[in-house]
Amino acid sequence: MPTVYLETYGCQMNVSDSELILGKLAADGYTPIDGPEGADVILLNTCAIREHAEQRVLGRLGELKRFMKADSVMGVTGCMAQRLGPRLMDEARHVSLVIGPDAYRALPELLDGARRGQRVVSTDFDLEEHYEDFTPRRFDKVKAWITVQRGCGYRCTYCIVPHTRGNERSRRLDDVVRETHQVVADGMSEVVLLGQTVNSYHDGASDFADLLRAVGAVPGVRRLRFTSPHPNDFSERVIEALADVPAACEHVHLPMQSGSSEVLKRMLRRYSREEYFACLGRLRAAIPGLSVTTDIIVGFPGETDAHFEETLSAVREAQFADAFLFKFSPREGTPATRMPAEWTVPEEVASERMARLVETQRSSARAQNLGQLGRTCEVLVEREARRGGSMLARTRDFRSVLVPGGTSLLGHYLTVKLTGTTGSTFTGTVVPGRSALPLAM
Ligand code: SAH
Ligand code: SF4
Ligand code: F3S
Repeated sequence: MPTVYLETYGCQMNVSDSELILGKLAADGYTPIDGPEGADVILLNTCAIREHAEQRVLGRLGELKRFMKADSVMGVTGCMAQRLGPRLMDEARHVSLVIGPDAYRALPELLDGARRGQRVVSTDFDLEEHYEDFTPRRFDKVKAWITVQRGCGYRCTYCIVPHTRGNERSRRLDDVVRETHQVVADGMSEVVLLGQTVNSYHDGASDFADLLRAVGAVPGVRRLRFTSPHPNDFSERVIEALADVPAACEHVHLPMQSGSSEVLKRMLRRYSREEYFACLGRLRAAIPGLSVTTDIIVGFPGETDAHFEETLSAVREAQFADAFLFKFSPREGTPATRMPAEWTVPEEVASERMARLVETQRSSARAQNLGQLGRTCEVLVEREARRGGSMLARTRDFRSVLVPGGTSLLGHYLTVKLTGTTGSTFTGTVVPGRSALPLAM
């Protein structure tokens, strides 16, 4: 049987797609393997979100070349494949297969062609494609990523995703619920619903509130998460559902992007600073103990020192538990690249702003974390920690906690007391008598 080795880059959507790709290839007679040595097929499922993400993939393609046998196929799938198409083969001549996110259905046949020596490119969008009949080969044994929406209907001026994933479309609610029953039957108790603006989900009959209620009602789903929502799509109905559904966790990842209304306007985010905070306020009022994480871009074209100060003050005010901070990276074909040249923020300025933002967020998180010490809470043990003899677990509100123990704890719920914090992670002690609840209670 031919073997396939696959590496995944980018967001959870790509992780979920990789699970579909490997499921499809396994069903077609391929054996997935854990390393590139001797693989008949090497695939990189790629991300195009920032220049750096693409540089990493190009570097890795070069490194992996030495593992290729005379008849191995090197393929690139995902967002970079969609963005560059055949141009990718000019950048890396040993690549003979380039497949975009909507074309995985034909992967076995396309691979056959590539293995016969053809150069294969397939990057058509298919707005009907949700891979319903695929059986994903899941990497994670504890939580299940379930894609409920593909593509994106927004057009943020910096963003390549609408180009690489096409327009927004939602899966049918029944199909999502069916998959949820399956993952529970497979022993998982946490479900993460995925979409680029996941709370704009609508399958024609049901909205995201209906979806949360339906998935949350599946017996055995103990934790329900979703990523990423857009502030404008948090309707009252969705917020009510979040507050009502017991499995829905007290954490929202709510990308802010900037604290300046003027910058937000140029980003075409479709909300102002005030509207972002109003959304945050509604969420926090409805869901006690809600923790919020975010994404922020620094150095967007036209961002002045005064705009950036507004981002700093927004970070202090919003009290994000964590923030993913990115330097603006111009993406070919996006409106941000057509803004006046004098708006470009010099690299040194962007770096200096980034350092200040990192420090501001860090001190905010530190203060919040100290306030958490002594708290007793439920954690789900997710994976082995890098530090030996301990496992990494998560609270419902998405804080990481190191707990003593080994892999036998995987997938178990424990009650822990938070005893210490080292930057972003907590240490916890297990509360005796209330620990090691069985899987999927
Ligand atoms: N759909 C999600 C975002 C997906 S991309 C949402 O709208 O929330 C993840 C993050 O990457 C974005 O939130 C943004 O902060 C960042 N990002 C996207 N394009 C970028 C670019 N051109 N340069 C720098 N950061 C970018
Ligand atoms: Fe990109 Fe904006 Fe769509 Fe998110 S909402 S994927 S940032 S275009
Ligand atoms: Fe990257 Fe594509 Fe996700 S560009 S962030 S892998 S949708």
